[in-house]
Amino acid sequence: MSDSWKIGSAEYDSALKKEAEYWGSEIKQALQKGIPFSVDMRRAQKIFVHRGNGLPQQQSFDPKAEWIMNGELYERVFQWVRSVSPQARILFLTCGGGGFCLELARQGHHVLGMDISHEALQIAKNFADENPYTKGFGSVEYKVTDLNRVELPKDTFDVVMAWDGLHHIVALDHLLHQIVKSLKPKGRFIFSDNIGMHRSSRLLGGGMYFLLPTHVSYAQKWSIALRGADAVKKEMQDRSPFEESHTHEMMPMVTRVFNIERSFYHTSIGYRAAIAGDTRLPEKLKYPFLRFVKKLDDILLKSGLFSPDHVLAMAYPIQK
Ligand SMILES: C[S@@+](CC[C@H](N)C(=O)[O-])C[C@H]1O[C@@H](n2cnc3c(N)ncnc32)[C@H](O)[C@@H]1O
Repeated sequence: MSDSWKIGSAEYDSALKKEAEYWGSEIKQALQKGIPFSVDMRRAQKIFVHRGNGLPQQQSFDPKAEWIMNGELYERVFQWVRSVSPQARILFLTCGGGGFCLELARQGHHVLGMDISHEALQIAKNFADENPYTKGFGSVEYKVTDLNRVELPKDTFDVVMAWDGLHHIVALDHLLHQIVKSLKPKGRFIFSDNIGMHRSSRLLGGGMYFLLPTHVSYAQKWSIALRGADAVKKEMQDRSPFEESHTHEMMPMVTRVFNIERSFYHTSIGYRAAIAGDTRLPEKLKYPFLRFVKKLDDILLKSGLFSPDHVLAMAYPIQK
């Protein structure tokens, strides 16, 4: 699908507009219910958002569940960034509602967040303006940018980060070369992304989500299962046209330009975020159950029985 877009064509521009509007509306809708994790990690609240019928998309956002599943990832990233510089100049790509940028600025870094969604960035700005955690605050600013045709400044950033967004970038080769150019000589590229789900993960995670009591009804789940994965992917791309532009081929593309210094491959149970958010159990049972799912996931991965569908990595340019 990534080859089918001609950057700058009328079709591309209209898809880009749709992409921006979709991600902006997602955050706006969530904000009507409370503070989502994607906007402010520290002040996040547990919220339920109806994201439309028929898609296996997370409908409920629970910060405690998020920390159980991904807390170690966030801790690792904070530590990696600090190891590059305690007050790093960071370019954060596909930053969405800015929660991660804000958290890094609270840790003393100076962050420039880029995304195509004007609405998401306006929300991110508002949250930065009213941030109550000001002690040791670095700085944060945001810029609406199309990363498929961005020209980045030379030798400027200690760290370039991308979180759950590279798989939306159609011109990934172009962006990777721009990242190389914009890193300072000792700079690092840190990214976390979806690298494609394997059949076994899809079956296990899908099966769990299907059987568990969730905020999505069993009738809806049957309708999703009967339509099949391809129909669901098509529906997702109707909403977010650049969804899964690159997944399985992402690492080969990155490693043509970067050496991987540290990596952490994770998540072997498909739809794990949706399981974490949507499982409807009394709190006393829910969190121990999610800890069990996380443990099981780690064991399946370690044993080699299942393959990871996400990667977190820190890399440096092969040639600078
Ligand atoms: C899956 S969301 C992730 C958002 C955020 N990193 C998070 O984890 O909450 C993907 C993001 O990529 C952005 N995006 C997609 N295509 C883009 C482009 N060409 N240029 C800049 N941002 C883009 C979307 O607006 C959206 O915010």
